[in-house]
Amino acid sequence: MSAPETKAEDAGSKDGVALLKVEGLSKTFHGKAGDVKAVDDVSFEAEKGEVVVIVGPSGSGKTTLLYLIGSLERADEGRILVSGEDICAPGADLIAYRRKRVGFVFQFFNLVTALTALENVALPMDISAAPSKVQGKKAAELLERMGIDGRLQRTRANRLSGGEKQRVAIARALANDPEIILADEPTGNLDSATGRTVVDILVRLAREDGRCVLIVTHDESILEVADRAFHMADGKLGARAKE
Ligand SMILES: Nc1ncnc2c1ncn2[C@@H]1O[C@H](COP(=O)(O)OP(=O)(O)OP(=O)(O)O)[C@@H](O)[C@H]1O
Ligand SMILES: [Mg+2]
Repeated sequence: MSAPETKAEDAGSKDGVALLKVEGLSKTFHGKAGDVKAVDDVSFEAEKGEVVVIVGPSGSGKTTLLYLIGSLERADEGRILVSGEDICAPGADLIAYRRKRVGFVFQFFNLVTALTALENVALPMDISAAPSKVQGKKAAELLERMGIDGRLQRTRANRLSGGEKQRVAIARALANDPEIILADEPTGNLDSATGRTVVDILVRLAREDGRCVLIVTHDESILEVADRAFHMADGKLGARAKE
């Protein structure tokens, strides 16, 4: 199946403000071996309910771009607007942004291995926001939705299979009901059938919940599910033409 053409020209939500707007984002790392411009003047937009897929080879800057958008790294130049709000502006509440507006899914799952699935999902929840019993119930519901049943919910993360770990990680990413999901090579450590299940779940988060799901990967097959598709090379983002 060919990848859909990017729809940058019809971007814009009902009120004319994109959910996510990245403008002229750049990041250079200064290492012993010299400078690396990992992200080079990247701009794109994404809407609620969309799956955005960025495909590129190793070292092309995918993880760095995702970390910039998630505010885990600071950009040298450019802006990241979420519903029109500049998250890099002086005084922006980055802790609240990371906690409530974005959810991360990583290649290596990044679960706390000594904790159960349920505890991992409850971990990022704000204890001041609701009693722990309510949060435990919500964590269990999120895991049920990911097909992780009661027995697996009480299993320590290090005992779970790769696919189970990634589904727990997705439930954890949803813990605070974020509008944006950032997934870095989410199928990188899974066999192709399990990877497909994980991609299907990520797509549902866009289609059913109206979240914006941004997936960066080297796996071209994920382009099939993209509403917007881009290629990344040497830190630069290019629209991916219809094949
Ligand atoms: N903290 C860092 N310090 C120095 N250089 C870095 C740092 N992080 C990334 N880089 C460099 O920036 C470039 C982009 O790296 P990045 O990890 O974003 O690529 P990637 O597309 O995610 O690669 P992969 O597919 O292997 O995960 C690479 O040349 C990398 O070596
Ligand atoms: Mg990477």
